[in-house]
Amino acid sequence: FSEQLGSPATTQQPTTAPIDIRTLGQELLLPWQLNRSAAQRLMQELNNCTSTQADAVITRANTRVGQSIRYYIQHEKTFLANRAFYNTLPRESPLPRTPYGRCSVVGNGAVLLGNRCGQEIDKADFVFRSNLPPLTGNLTRDTGQKANWTTANPVSQLSWRFNLLSNKPANKEKFVRHVRQYSGLLVASAFGVKAATTVSVRAQRVLRERKLSLAVVYGNPRHFAAVRDYWAYNGLSMRLSTGIYLTTIALSACDEVHLFGFWPFDVDHSGEKLLYHYYDKPDTKVNPILDPAFLHNLPKEFLKLVELHRSGVLKIHLETCQ
Ligand code: CTP
Repeated sequence: FSEQLGSPATTQQPTTAPIDIRTLGQELLLPWQLNRSAAQRLMQELNNCTSTQADAVITRANTRVGQSIRYYIQHEKTFLANRAFYNTLPRESPLPRTPYGRCSVVGNGAVLLGNRCGQEIDKADFVFRSNLPPLTGNLTRDTGQKANWTTANPVSQLSWRFNLLSNKPANKEKFVRHVRQYSGLLVASAFGVKAATTVSVRAQRVLRERKLSLAVVYGNPRHFAAVRDYWAYNGLSMRLSTGIYLTTIALSACDEVHLFGFWPFDVDHSGEKLLYHYYDKPDTKVNPILDPAFLHNLPKEFLKLVELHRSGVLKIHLETCQ
């Protein structure tokens, strides 16, 4: 890495041509204006291609009793939606037919730290977050606290972090204590791989037993596939990150989309070293199986988001808010 030429924020893997981080950062700090008609055109296109409003999560409206749900990653496997499973699904899509006004999509990048954008994030009508990030104490000045749609990767979060595969009360307790900080929906991608289903169903049951207002719903593999195909057609043929997936939902469901915590580089725009997640410690170890540098191509995705920022379809926030 040189001061000017950035690299992905984790273990190195040649993914894209070098990016001039400083210039890119300076550009993203310039005044921005929403291009409402371009944003509406994209919303229309995304809804035509991905049916986000109806299909983003599995509901009784888009699934029948006896239907086989095909896994998204273990494509050869299916899950039979029996009556008991069907009864645990929401009746209808949680996404409204009339779009939200303003939405925040909060990535977990360390670039969030110190920006004091918590209030700016929370002033949105709807806030998307990923992978059960901490939203407490002094952090909230930078992260905000509102969380309407929070994803939980069943493998890295529900199985490994909270160990919900084992039915021990202490594990469930730890999980419940942690998720009390979110409201609305906890969206688990239960149909990527077979092992994800058991743990996602358990997470749902635990929150129901405790009568938490936070509800676990299941991401729809058919929708994941449609979003993947949309981006493949538009130049991103790769395993998509949660960040671009949530951004796609927001672009389909919100008039104005604001991104915070998206900056997948190991230095900020002025060349200061950055950790990867805003909650990482200097000695945090990335599990090699989940290393985003291998799973995803975040710099390439980011450049696609930059194109949308340039055309006024969404705003990437890097500035200090207060
Ligand atoms: N992100 C970013 N820059 C970083 C860290 C994260 O832009 N330095 C964005 C990415 O879009 C990422 C999202 O924030 O997808 C959420 O971060 P994380 O939870 O680490 O996401 P993923 O690696 O995509 O999660 P998953 O394990 O579900 O694949």
